[in-house]
Amino acid sequence: MVGVLLLLLLLPFLLYIAAPQIRSMLSSGVCTSTIQLPGKVAVVTGANTGIGKETAKELARRGARVYLACRDVQKGELVAREIQMMTGNQQVLVRKLDLADTKSIRAFAKRFLEEEKHLHILINNAGVMMCPYSKTADGFEMHMGVNHLGHFLLTHLLLEKLKESAPSRVVNVSSLAHHLGRIHFHNLQGEKFYQSGLAYCHSKLANILFTQELARRLKGSGITVYSVHPGTVNSELVRHSALMRWIWWIFSFFIKTPQQGAQTSLYCALTEGLEVLSGNHFSDCHVAWVSAQARNETVARRLWDVSCDLLGIPVDWLMMAAGPKRSLK
Ligand SMILES: NC(=O)c1ccc[n+]([C@@H]2O[C@H](COP(=O)([O-])OP(=O)(O)OC[C@H]3O[C@@H](n4cnc5c(N)ncnc54)[C@H](OP(=O)(O)O)[C@@H]3O)[C@@H](O)[C@H]2O)c1
Ligand SMILES: *[C@@H]1O[C@H](CO)[C@@H](O)[C@H](O)[C@H]1NC(C)=O
Ligand SMILES: *[C@@H]1O[C@H](CO)[C@@H](O)[C@H](O)[C@H]1NC(C)=O
Repeated sequence: MVGVLLLLLLLPFLLYIAAPQIRSMLSSGVCTSTIQLPGKVAVVTGANTGIGKETAKELARRGARVYLACRDVQKGELVAREIQMMTGNQQVLVRKLDLADTKSIRAFAKRFLEEEKHLHILINNAGVMMCPYSKTADGFEMHMGVNHLGHFLLTHLLLEKLKESAPSRVVNVSSLAHHLGRIHFHNLQGEKFYQSGLAYCHSKLANILFTQELARRLKGSGITVYSVHPGTVNSELVRHSALMRWIWWIFSFFIKTPQQGAQTSLYCALTEGLEVLSGNHFSDCHVAWVSAQARNETVARRLWDVSCDLLGIPVDWLMMAAGPKRSLK
């Protein structure tokens, strides 16, 4: 009796002591590539905090010129200084990018294309989760707008540069949460019904569908694309939900650190010989299973066309190498 009571009292303490071991058990997957990146150019969106910051730091450590694409330039500059200090790499640059505004995305791309000859690694990492219903400058629902459409436009604008720099890679940071996602074409902007948690899941499903469609269309171009589930990571992502903040706080000893969360993005960006797996989804540095929805090519094509339409991009900007010509809708 006393023994059980003592054990119960000791349990939190024991858990606390064992937390580092438990965390490393739950967060397998380390990018072991030793590749160095002198002369390579990388862009990481949302690089001022969380997973993006750690991803950018490691790319800088390996000698790449790294662009931190951030909506808050001041926050970005602080992080750039920190990364420069820690890695000794001075080529860490901050550029303004607000994915909730297509004007900002176009301005970012324009400046980048003017000032850089190459782009070898594009990490579409920025993301929002569980925002109250809100819209981007262009009237898109926030999750769809930032997580999916914003990155779609950005990738579109930078694609020529990626092509010229091939072999090059695009990594899309998605989530396990895509399993709960559905693409409701009649309610893409959440106007008929909206639930913030599900809106996140839908946008993360869109990330995977896009990765696959892009991979199909880029076959043979020298650009390969990957989508990633970083794991459950202790970051600022939960900032919009008090409940999620609380859950994250309780489990904060056991979930991945941002540095651990960056491993799969880095794995996909750096591992040699990964090209044959273009279009796949990765978790813990392994190919991971995606939902049936995420494998549906019909949905992927339609979402591609609808996204082009919403963004005012010609639907045939990237035709499949040998595919038939298609018209909108
Ligand atoms: N944490 C997890 O457990 C988890 C799990 C699965 C997937 N993910 C994915 O991992 C990625 C990174 O998330 P994180 O966990 O590192 O979250 P985070 O700490 O909240 O970082 C998100 C980043 O995105 C930026 N961002 C948000 N809205 C933006 C906009 N409109 N324009 C430009 N940048 C914007 C944020 O900038 P500000 O600081 O200025 O807001 C921040 O730099 C996300 O795509 C997320 O969906 C995370
Ligand atoms: C992800 O993948 C494709 C190919 O890179 C791209 O077109 C799309 O816009 C990217 N962004 C997201 C977050 O889906
Ligand atoms: C793909 O999705 C469409 C529309 O939701 C559905 O009608 C079709 O049966 C699905 N195809 C596959 C192969 O699951």
